[in-house]
Amino acid sequence: MIDLRLNIDGVADFVSHDEVKIFQNETAFHFDNILKKTGKGKDALGWVDIPGNINNDFLKQILEEADRITANSDVIVVAGIGGSYLGARAVIEALNNHFPIQQEKHKHPKIVFAGHNLSEDYHYQLLKWLDDKSYSVIVISKSGTTTETAIAFRFLKEHLENKYGKKDAKNRIIAITDANKGALRKLAEAEGYATYTIPDNVGGRYSVFTPVGLLPIAAAGYDIKQLINGACNMKNYLLKTNDIFKNPAFLYATTRNILHNKGKVIEIMAHYLPNLYYFTEWWKQLFGESEGKDNKGIFPAAVNFTSDLHSMGQYIQEGKRLMFETVLFAGKNKKELKIPKDNDDFDGLNYIAGKNLGQVNSMAEKGTTIAHIEGGVPVIKLSLSGLDEKNIGELLYFFMMSCALSGYIINVNPFDQPGVEAYKANMFGLLGKPGYEEKMKELQKRTKKTPK
Ligand code: PA5
Repeated sequence: MIDLRLNIDGVADFVSHDEVKIFQNETAFHFDNILKKTGKGKDALGWVDIPGNINNDFLKQILEEADRITANSDVIVVAGIGGSYLGARAVIEALNNHFPIQQEKHKHPKIVFAGHNLSEDYHYQLLKWLDDKSYSVIVISKSGTTTETAIAFRFLKEHLENKYGKKDAKNRIIAITDANKGALRKLAEAEGYATYTIPDNVGGRYSVFTPVGLLPIAAAGYDIKQLINGACNMKNYLLKTNDIFKNPAFLYATTRNILHNKGKVIEIMAHYLPNLYYFTEWWKQLFGESEGKDNKGIFPAAVNFTSDLHSMGQYIQEGKRLMFETVLFAGKNKKELKIPKDNDDFDGLNYIAGKNLGQVNSMAEKGTTIAHIEGGVPVIKLSLSGLDEKNIGELLYFFMMSCALSGYIINVNPFDQPGVEAYKANMFGLLGKPGYEEKMKELQKRTKKTPK
């Protein structure tokens, strides 16, 4: 059995049973193509089998590497962007304590991130903060040429070398990159860093079960074995049936596309736990980068409830009817917190005294879901009993498979991202990168107005 529950009762007013059933054969066909690696982007389907193929030697190697770098580090800086950082961050933040006081008791290092933006202040402050910390760096880039990551790593490398000397610094750097190609591979080999490989047939946003996700997650102290078990569990469950109403990936991929065909062009992932913020960032990247091409695709957005019920909630309830909502709800909290009774009851909260805060959150979700459905927003519900490594592993695999199916339903290649090159070429032209001279001239001649 799996822990994840998918419930589409909240779309019943918008999508009929028969409309879903029409997709039965098509979805089964796409699933078969994914499993046999015969569909679009077939060279990038390595992720399908990865969780089941991870052997004990590989796992041992990752765990030993995590132990080695954590032994002498209070902080691990993970430098990467997009698929080379969001999977690890999604899992770590889903499992993390929120406050440093608890974090300090955690015997594992603090994981911080770099290279996912070009903010001068962010990187300046990070380096300053690292001045008096013992730390190591995991630098991740499949292409090995991503500018944001490369710049951050240049700063970090210099900082580490100044702090520890070149020889010791090299033992505090691990590079995760392509087996042969790219500047990072070259640099890592020239400097003698420990390296791990991102398989050729796995793209960034599908790489969380490779060293890209596993090493930072293990270094943060979380159980990667359970994470992998969760993914295997989900895969085996999905393999059990091609019945569209029983296979949750089939049902989710289909339902969202039927809603899209009815004008629901935005999917809002709503969650009710701050721990899930980065999980929805990972999900947004997965679906946005996989489906948003050829003028197609649902726009993936996310809201953090209940905070955003006091802001975006207004639009969702009464704004333009463009969206459907997918609620990601994790039931059980790790610790209980009962609402205290107060003799004066000035705030009028005694009617919930004695209830757990989690119960209140759960009623907030139920109340919101009913209101949104009645307001014309179909709701797909995904529930987990709680947040742990195994459940998160299930969920990651579920979304990757659903995304691949959904991409095939709309007939795009869910594993490429040709559109992200456009900004890079312009930025390189503007920065004067060798080889981009023509681009620079073209941009200088550009007559269309650009905001100053
Ligand atoms: O999903 C993807 O392929 C992208 O988001 C990449 O992961 C991202 O652009 C980073 O690329 P790289 O790992 O080559 O630095």
